[in-house]
Amino acid sequence: MRFVAMKLHTKEQAPKEGGRETPAEAKPMAQWQPTTEGYLNFLVQSKLVYETMEEIVTNEELAIYKDFQNTGLERSAALEKDIAWFKETQGLEPKEIAPDSAAAEYSTLLKQLAKEDPPAFICHFYNTYFAHSAGGRMIGKKMSEMLLDGETLEFYQWEGELSELLEAVRAKLNTTAEGWTREQKDVCLEETEKAFQYSGQVMRTLFS
Ligand code: HEM
Repeated sequence: MRFVAMKLHTKEQAPKEGGRETPAEAKPMAQWQPTTEGYLNFLVQSKLVYETMEEIVTNEELAIYKDFQNTGLERSAALEKDIAWFKETQGLEPKEIAPDSAAAEYSTLLKQLAKEDPPAFICHFYNTYFAHSAGGRMIGKKMSEMLLDGETLEFYQWEGELSELLEAVRAKLNTTAEGWTREQKDVCLEETEKAFQYSGQVMRTLFS
């Protein structure tokens, strides 16, 4: 899964492993002009995505995902605190999530895949949590410098050593995939493009 994901990065995003040319219309990160409102929107949208993931893995009817509960990578509680922080310190109210927004559409897709296509769901699970630990943190650092006077939000803080949390989840993902047929493994890998598409759309709310 990692190999496929890295090839879908642009060379600007991940210079060592990125396989795609940066599209002409994509703004280099150095030229981003985000606003605090846009950043808050991105956090609100991200919270819906993480809440959906975390509801799915704790849903008793979907016991196949129970190994992915309490991984320490969960982000919805941290995001809730961050959104409250924006209200307290910046006086900014979170915007409601429109039903046709990127996160609402992604949440619907995740719920459907979790029930109907576990290998595809697992691909989104991996990409969401691992992308946040890599590119997500790079975005967070940039936003913190540009908009928040260096404040590090809870979204970018984990209890315990992040690399250890990630490796424990990586091992569980590998064990899960060992039980799949070749076709199921291919479904999972082929889903990576969709994970990039939806996460990319959520990321673009930074500029909304
Ligand atoms: C890994 C940057 C967007 C999924 C990485 C790495 C970098 C990076 C530098 C390599 C980390 C390392 O191993 O040292 C970025 C930047 C992004 C971005 C700058 C956008 C501005 C995305 C998106 C997804 C994604 C949209 C998919 C939803 C991943 C995954 C890994 C990764 C799955 C591998 C993590 C692992 O297994 O160790 N990213 N990324 N990234 N990224 Fe991104």
